[in-house]
Amino acid sequence: MDNSLIESLKRQAAERAASLVRSGMKLGLGTGSTAAHFVDCIGEKARDGLDVICVPTSERTRIQAEGWNLRLSTLDETPELDLTVDGADEFDAKLRLVKGGGGALLREKIVAAASKRMVVITDASKEVAILGRFKLPIEVDLFGLRATRIHIENAARACGCSGPIVQRKAAGEKPYLTDGGHAIFDCDFGIIPDADALAVALNAIPGVVEHGLFIGMASAVIVADKAGIRVVGKLEG
Ligand code: A5P
Repeated sequence: MDNSLIESLKRQAAERAASLVRSGMKLGLGTGSTAAHFVDCIGEKARDGLDVICVPTSERTRIQAEGWNLRLSTLDETPELDLTVDGADEFDAKLRLVKGGGGALLREKIVAAASKRMVVITDASKEVAILGRFKLPIEVDLFGLRATRIHIENAARACGCSGPIVQRKAAGEKPYLTDGGHAIFDCDFGIIPDADALAVALNAIPGVVEHGLFIGMASAVIVADKAGIRVVGKLEG
């Protein structure tokens, strides 16, 4: 699929999600190229009179939302949100997600957890039968990186996963740092046979700040492909 078609599919998914938004809602704004289309849709609607309060999941998204003059807030001021719309790196039929390709997984998960509903917007290329095609991002504290990596390897092995774990780099080979100042390990485990168990095992490792498995969080995925829009899960209420 060429790039302009993929961008138009992402925009269609974003427009469908934007149709769920009403004045007075408190929104979580996701991060990534698909979520950026949603921010544009909300910006356009706000320009035409939609009145919403938005909590961004990253500095990137905050800057984009400021460009649209959206009313921004934080979870300290606005701790309960009506709806978060975000992208995903992959999803399965049980609405389990891998996220964090854009490095914003920690704030994305905190914002999604503060929302009554999380709706994911994607193009069809993100749908998988079993999670694990995308390298699993794990956000880790900079203290004790090697020890944390060993804990992750052991936890993964106990859940039937193994493979290279590589610390993400930024431009110029410097270690990539998240908005929260943490590192990311990209874990090339391949197929994850038991994502639920792996999520629990990773949560138990002290140096793991957060991992990219989003389980039981999304209420629907809006999938745009050439044939049109499809919804997995429930969009309303
Ligand atoms: C950001 O950290 C990620 O979780 C993104 O939501 C995910 O990587 C999807 O990004 P794209 O929409 O750019 O594919």
